[in-house]
Amino acid sequence: SQSRKVDEILSNFKLSEEQQQLVKDRMRAGLEAGLRSQGPFTIKMLPSFIFHKPNGKEHGKFLALDLGGTNFRALLVRFKKQKSRIYHKIYTIPLEIMQGTGEELFDHLAQCVCDFLDYMGVKNARLPTGFTFSFPCEQTAIDTGKLVTWTKGFNATDCEGHDVVGLLREAIKRRNDFDLDIVALINDTVGTMMSCAYEDPRCEIGLIAGTGTNLCYMEELKNIKKLHQKSGTAEKDQETPEVENGKETDRETRRSNMCINTEWGGLGDDGSLDNIITAFDTEVDQNSVNPGKQRFEKLTSGMYLGEIVRQVLLDLTRRGLLFRGHISECLKKPGIFETRYLSQIESDHLALLQVRSVLQKLGLDSTCHDSIIVKQVCGAVSRRAAQLCGAGMAAVVDKIRQNRGLDHLNITVGVDGALYKLHPHFSQILQETVKVLAPQCDVTFFPSEEGSGKGAALVAAVARQNQEMLT
Ligand code: BG6
Ligand code: GLC
Repeated sequence: SQSRKVDEILSNFKLSEEQQQLVKDRMRAGLEAGLRSQGPFTIKMLPSFIFHKPNGKEHGKFLALDLGGTNFRALLVRFKKQKSRIYHKIYTIPLEIMQGTGEELFDHLAQCVCDFLDYMGVKNARLPTGFTFSFPCEQTAIDTGKLVTWTKGFNATDCEGHDVVGLLREAIKRRNDFDLDIVALINDTVGTMMSCAYEDPRCEIGLIAGTGTNLCYMEELKNIKKLHQKSGTAEKDQETPEVENGKETDRETRRSNMCINTEWGGLGDDGSLDNIITAFDTEVDQNSVNPGKQRFEKLTSGMYLGEIVRQVLLDLTRRGLLFRGHISECLKKPGIFETRYLSQIESDHLALLQVRSVLQKLGLDSTCHDSIIVKQVCGAVSRRAAQLCGAGMAAVVDKIRQNRGLDHLNITVGVDGALYKLHPHFSQILQETVKVLAPQCDVTFFPSEEGSGKGAALVAAVARQNQEMLT
């Protein structure tokens, strides 16, 4: 019958516990390979040059710039006695700028910063600034990093291979009407971890489940083999205790850990996820700006889930199982199912009639029966995403547990991203999966309230302290 056919197609998205376990194993192998030697590897394991989490002593006024999925945020953050005050403004990045020239993109960012400084009345302050740049950067220090490759639909020219802090500084120089002291460059996962660690010292992982997906965590320096191979600098860092005000600090604050930006979205780029990838996923990958890249991300994050759903709906319609076999112009449009619509369609509080009205808004005329099927499709795709994300997380927490030789690990994960925050079931399925696949770990998820911008300001505060100590 009709519904059996639909079930059959959707069974492609079901993952057995064994398959989930396998994804966990692949992720673990990928993390280890990325730590071992210089790339290219599917999981880049990028050093962040962040050795400590915030200690609550941060103080002063900082600017944070945050280029994430679709928005650019500028924030003014003031820390005082373990409290923070934040002012911010959001700017959109038009598609033509995301995919134009690098100069146009960075000029646009500088223009937004200028507007924000005017708005806050701090244009002449030359504030210490933390820059959250949510793309893979090969860093050699806390305040510099070359963009390895664009992800998430960005494709501006002449940026890959360049230091993005340099690109921003040049754009500011071109304007010549304000100046910033950019002291830190960080990934959004790192910002999220830092901002949550400010509240909960057990937070040692940052997770983003949004437009894209990624994770960072605190790794032991001795395990980051590729750093030692490079120049021996990290080896030195490891042995040299930090010096504060001329005095040696206690053992706790020595540089024994570094935060690693995993860029786990690249898992599967070598074909290691091919056994779970469906024809719908392949279609989505082929239509993207970076075919063959970020395969894990394309199975698990907001920018792609809606597209997978659309491919399934197209297929069901072609088979005459949906929309009376009629493919509307709207269904042909890439990108119609944004995360917020998926979240609405899957909400348990919506009656079918309301699901139909969401579809109507998207230009899809549906019967009651159609809307049931659409909801099922969304459910199958988002469940798989949450399970995959959980399998990846299980690999990370088990690695940290084993690093420390523990039978049991208690750990907190700072999380951000629209998929985690808006979707009605994603977070729960993610947590259940981690419980099953990493039974020796107790993982608490801590949704970040302030985005990664506050984290960037915290990192800037620490970097500034270090700068001052050296001068
Ligand atoms: C925000 C961060 O909190 O979360 C961004 O400040 C980040 O930098 C974002 O990219 C992820 O969310 P989304 O859903 O917009 O990709
Ligand atoms: C993409 C980026 C990564 C970022 C993630 C979440 O995977 O490559 O740097 O952290 O999206 O925004």
